[in-house]
Amino acid sequence: MEKLVIEGGRPLRGTVRVNGAKNAVLPLLAATLLSEGRCVLRNVPDLFDVRTLLDILREVGLTADWRGPGTVVTRVERHDCSVARYELVSKMRASIYVLGPLLARRGFARVSLPGGCAFGLRPVDLHLKGLRALGAEIGLDHGDIVARAPGGRLRGARVFLGGPMGSSVGATANTLMAACLADGKSVIEGAACEPEIDELAHFLNRMGATIEGIGTPRLVITGVPALGGAAAHVVPDRIEAGTFAIAAGLLPGSDVRIEDLRVDHLSAVFDKLAEAGVEVTVEDDSAVRVRRTGELRPVHVATLPYPAYPTDCQAQLVSMLSLARGISVVTEKIYPDRFHHLAELNRMGADVQKEGPSAIIRGVDRLSGCDVEASDLRAAAALVIAGMAAEGKTTVHKLHHLDRGYERFEERLQALGASIERQGKQAAAARTAA
Ligand code: EPZ
Repeated sequence: MEKLVIEGGRPLRGTVRVNGAKNAVLPLLAATLLSEGRCVLRNVPDLFDVRTLLDILREVGLTADWRGPGTVVTRVERHDCSVARYELVSKMRASIYVLGPLLARRGFARVSLPGGCAFGLRPVDLHLKGLRALGAEIGLDHGDIVARAPGGRLRGARVFLGGPMGSSVGATANTLMAACLADGKSVIEGAACEPEIDELAHFLNRMGATIEGIGTPRLVITGVPALGGAAAHVVPDRIEAGTFAIAAGLLPGSDVRIEDLRVDHLSAVFDKLAEAGVEVTVEDDSAVRVRRTGELRPVHVATLPYPAYPTDCQAQLVSMLSLARGISVVTEKIYPDRFHHLAELNRMGADVQKEGPSAIIRGVDRLSGCDVEASDLRAAAALVIAGMAAEGKTTVHKLHHLDRGYERFEERLQALGASIERQGKQAAAARTAA
């Protein structure tokens, strides 16, 4: 099995460019199912999750091809298969994004019900609530969601999509895409306001949709008979940018320029890093300089929907705070069980306890390298960050989690001065495939 072997104790220095956002490109790709024309997506990261969704799109009748690095071109060629099967959906939960578009375009969809993941049940009830509000008849059949639009058409409706943890990114995306081809007007109340939803809405409008209220919790959609082709440049990955910034903040002596990001998408992360004593200098709208010059200070933070502190940067911050003098508290308001990285950090010498939805972190003087196991995508990144700060060698196992959301992560960290290399029989194959 592949693993990353890290020798800790080296600062990060230099410049790193941020890739296109995984959590933006996935709904954008799903939205191309709605188009009767040619769609071109640029700045697409080459990630396992992207490859999985491209495989699903091809199975439901699209041509979806890479045209040079970072560019994907899609066109709907056939409508004879509207099934997203278990073998692919089980690799990536966000495959459910094809449900709304298939239903709206073809009047039918069968999508394997996504399972849970390492940090929770990950229900999809709000996705189904939104589509049912648009008139869909939805049942479960042998583990699949089976959805039908009576008479082949969805109808506009008003629906509130807020859930027990607030807004839902996925449910908003699915319902928004379906509403674009529904007959009449729809209103989505309690819509997610993440930047990735804004990008999706603007892309849909370029395809010919009529969406108002973009960036607000109230989206108003006037259905249209058909949507055409469009192009999109995938927005920079705010979570990847936050991951690099936290890594630089953790490693003493680091001085890293992070570019091609959207500074305005990272206010909560940069604010929390500054509070912890990390020097974050905004150089312009798309670049920051992050320096670790002094001691880290403990902080309290809660993860909440955008623009608050993102849950996808929670694990990485816990790694950093494990070396901040004092007691920090990190509370998960989105996924209360998203703490499988704590046990692995404690094996490295951290002192972190879980109290309900909170991690109580008592800063220690040092971490010591050892073998650790990733449980999910962001936990994998958090363990890599901790390994770069630890004394001695850290080996991070179950790297498939990391490769879902970070492209050439170890190579980019190596370029910043980290001692990190990928080992394992597939390592050579991975490089060849890339
Ligand atoms: C998206 O997942 C992201 N994934 C996640 O990033 C991210 O953590 C999450 O949004 C929150 O920001 C993609 O964009 C592909 P939600 P999603 O629906 O859409 C509950 C990563 O690391 N909920 O906004 O699945 C849910 O349990 C991944 O890149 C329901 O109760 O998240 C959670 O508590 C991990 N019912 C809260 O809402 C539903 O039907 C927010 O979930 C749907 C969600």
